[in-house]
Amino acid sequence: MNKRCLAAISRSYSQHASVDQLRLIFLGAPGSGKGTIAKKVREKYGLESLSSGDILRATAEEESPLGRMVKEVISSGKLLEDSLMVEMMENSLKQWPANKGIILDGFPRTVDQAKELDGMVTRIGMPLDGVVSIKVAPEVIIERLSGRRVHPGSGRVYHVDYNPPKVEGVDDVTGEPLVQRSDDTVEVILSRLQIYEETAQPLRDHYDNMNLLHVIESETSDIGFQRLEQVLPQLIGSS
Ligand code: AP5
Ligand code: MG
Repeated sequence: MNKRCLAAISRSYSQHASVDQLRLIFLGAPGSGKGTIAKKVREKYGLESLSSGDILRATAEEESPLGRMVKEVISSGKLLEDSLMVEMMENSLKQWPANKGIILDGFPRTVDQAKELDGMVTRIGMPLDGVVSIKVAPEVIIERLSGRRVHPGSGRVYHVDYNPPKVEGVDDVTGEPLVQRSDDTVEVILSRLQIYEETAQPLRDHYDNMNLLHVIESETSDIGFQRLEQVLPQLIGSS
């Protein structure tokens, strides 16, 4: 099937009334701002996200062989095996209300995962409306990630300079201590970036061939969100 036919099919599925019904994927390097932009979208439009990294970090807290294995993979910066990742995401997606939109943050990350997701969204009846690839220069990433602090209980994300908490080192809402992620050390960041470079282009090509891909440059704070907002009208089919 050629690109024009695929575009027509894709458009026929993307006539939503509002942003909170969209089904999107966020692609982007570690530290590109997937989680930060997803939070802005949720706050402004009520569209919620599902982060594969958050699911894995919750699993890593479990005292089980699976929990220990996942913890080790995350701390090394490598990717979890495709079949296990797909199984975990399918379990979460099955519980997601079919009439509610979603942003998938961090999944898929390989073409094999993307192909599995293609089948999954058809089975579950949740066709995708768009794939947003967030581009940030690699030199910006290390500074962002090494300054990131998170509140483990809620997943709230801060940055020591760009988005500092009201009181240094503690969460604004609970007053509990903030922590640095185990994979936010320079050595592991470099490994994560290398893996991303190897897997990103084939993944973008996969979605470009389906005419779903939108690339946004997100070089400075908040610009990525503004550029995403320019794309949203096309995705809800009102442009
Ligand atoms: P995951 O949690 O998905 O990590 P990641 O993709 O490496 O991305 P990050 O969460 O680090 O970055 P982000 O893009 O969300 O940036 P953020 O908004 O926080 O995955 C973790 C691990 O789980 C993987 O390494 C892998 O092991 C495993 N995994 C996950 N999914 C998998 C899959 N599908 N298959 C296999 N394995 C998988 O922003 C970063 C910082 O920058 C923050 O401090 C933020 O405040 C700041 N910031 C954000 N935007 C801006 C801006 N515009 N200007 C200035 N600062 C900014
Ligand atoms: Mg994230």
